Amino acid sequence: MSFYLQYAEGLGGKILEPMCGSGRLFVPMMEHGLDIEGFDASEFMLESLYRKCNEKKLEPKVWQNFTHKLEKKNTYNLVIIPVGSLSLITDSNQLKISLEQIRESLVDGGVFVFELLTMIILEGRKTNRWGESSRTTPDGSKIILSCMDLPVENNIGESICRYEMVVDNQIQHTEIETYELRYFEKNEIDFLLNEIGFSKINHVTNCKHANSNECMVYECHK
Ligand SMILES: C[S@@+](CC[C@H](N)C(=O)[O-])C[C@H]1O[C@@H](n2cnc3c(N)ncnc32)[C@H](O)[C@@H]1O
Repeated sequence: MSFYLQYAEGLGGKILEPMCGSGRLFVPMMEHGLDIEGFDASEFMLESLYRKCNEKKLEPKVWQNFTHKLEKKNTYNLVIIPVGSLSLITDSNQLKISLEQIRESLVDGGVFVFELLTMIILEGRKTNRWGESSRTTPDGSKIILSCMDLPVENNIGESICRYEMVVDNQIQHTEIETYELRYFEKNEIDFLLNEIGFSKINHVTNCKHANSNECMVYECHK
């Protein structure tokens, strides 16, 4: 969070986190007293964000939407999309419209900071095999998580995840999730960012939380 705090505190004003999910970053930023708004395509992720905020007596300004349908004009000083969420937009046209909408939503001089997954992250990755791990939920149930990455085609990789909730040594509930991620070559998106009208497109290389080989961190100005 300290990386994004630097920008928030340096710029002041309103912040937007598209694809805010369950609020892993959003909620601590709110607790820090920042004027942050967010949205996400998934009502389930937003429900989880509301639950966290209720417990902390916070009133979040979040709504359900897709990034390419943002339609806000000149509102935010800072827009952030951390941990490669933007890589979930695998359709090139939707990605372009999303970036255009984000630029439109910034005040003049506003900044967009985001991370993208690179192809390097795929080196040595095994495909078509289940990898397994487990988690314990706050109420003590065990969840066995099995994930399989399918081979990457045209820089897009699909993953399948199976979640099994175990109570009293019985599987009580199973959920399957599939998602695609787009992996980027170095500098691949720079041309698009320029074309959309961002200026001062910087690759942030001294960002401690991201391995710069696996994740490219961008800072773009309107
Ligand atoms: C990996 S989660 C990350 C959430 C948050 N940034 C975090 O660090 O916890 C990615 C989120 O992006 C959302 N998402 C995926 N595609 C989207 C789209 N096109 N528009 C808006 N949200 C989207 C998903 O619902 C999910 O909650």
